[in-house]
Amino acid sequence: MKTLRMTLCAAALMTVACAANAAEVEVLHWWTSGGEAKAAGELKKMLETKGDKWKDFAVAGGAGDNAMTALKTRVVSGNPPSAAQVKGPAIQEWGDQGVLANIDDVANKNNWNKVLPAVVQNTMKYQGHYVAAPVNVHRVNWLWVNPELLKKANAKVPTTWDEFFKTADALQKAGIQPVAYGGQPWQDSTVFEDVVLGVGGADFFKKAFVQLDQATLKGATMVKALETYKKIKPYTDKNAAGRDWNLATAMVINGKAGMQFMGDWAKGEFLAAGKVPGKDFLCVPAPGTAKSYTFNIDSFIFFKLKNADGAKGQNDLAETLVSPEFQQVFNLNKGSIPVRLDADMAKFDDCGKESAKDFATDNKSGTLVPSFAHGMAAHSATQGAIFDVVSQFWNDDSMTAQQAAAKLAAAAKVN
Ligand code: GAL
Repeated sequence: MKTLRMTLCAAALMTVACAANAAEVEVLHWWTSGGEAKAAGELKKMLETKGDKWKDFAVAGGAGDNAMTALKTRVVSGNPPSAAQVKGPAIQEWGDQGVLANIDDVANKNNWNKVLPAVVQNTMKYQGHYVAAPVNVHRVNWLWVNPELLKKANAKVPTTWDEFFKTADALQKAGIQPVAYGGQPWQDSTVFEDVVLGVGGADFFKKAFVQLDQATLKGATMVKALETYKKIKPYTDKNAAGRDWNLATAMVINGKAGMQFMGDWAKGEFLAAGKVPGKDFLCVPAPGTAKSYTFNIDSFIFFKLKNADGAKGQNDLAETLVSPEFQQVFNLNKGSIPVRLDADMAKFDDCGKESAKDFATDNKSGTLVPSFAHGMAAHSATQGAIFDVVSQFWNDDSMTAQQAAAKLAAAAKVN
């Protein structure tokens, strides 16, 4: 007996989507900047070699806030995409909604329980079953430096906060914009979590952002971190408010600013602009954070679809994402490192090699911390409440660090 699919395909006169084993895969993501789009293009290409058709559901906006709003609308209306870029604890939140598809078959066939680090496996599973596929590991606690500008100002690449402010002063004196900054809530918190890690260390960071410990959030070290964070503001420019992260990176690329705090997706921008690491730009751990590592793992979740054919495309996508070939080409463009334990790092530059080495070392020494600003540490409602406080503090010069610390503690109770 003919299957329904064959009948439909015959009726559709063998359109592309009906060709043998072809499936349309609609993928929600927010990779729209220069480097991000290049990396996403590699995914599309590789998926299409499996005979599937990529349907792009790109929603611009760094760190995915807009993308998450678009996703909720689609799922609530009963029409989810095949897959969506969702990470960290949010995977569990979607699992609780009962809308995710189980991809254990792909995971077992490809040995994910062996090739992925334990911390990654756990994040990708809901109630013991794989519902998400990981793509990469981004390190968030980087400072991106234009070495030529620092040289002009006779300034040193900073490793501590004291050195950072000396370098910023020297740049300012030389008439150079010290810091490229994008004033958006997720970017404010990206910089703030660097400062928290640098000032308080990894254990303090975990107490604050993972355990959401009240005394830690209100205490003297947090006040000091808030003060240090706010001290950066005079080194940013008047047009920082609302600026996209990649435009801030472009300021460092084009010699308009000396430094930027940003995760290593910024490296994707430097590379896409033809810049050479170690020569045209430097990647150094954010001040005081050389011995710790803030991780951010991109991943895709898969939705239960009404159309049975959809599963073939989802499985192909999941298999592609974790495959050694894709992990290489994608991460070489994206600025991140492969998520597989057996990844070959030979083709990666020194920033990538350092990231891989530090990830392993910090994993062993307990100084690997989940990025709060990138949705790896807390429930999304808590994250949103803390983002609001950090941005209010940055923007409102009448708020004291003590007041902000008290507000942080109150925000941590929101969930
Ligand atoms: C992060 C994401 C990265 C990068 C960045 C800026 O949250 O993990 O892949 O896209 O946002 O958009």
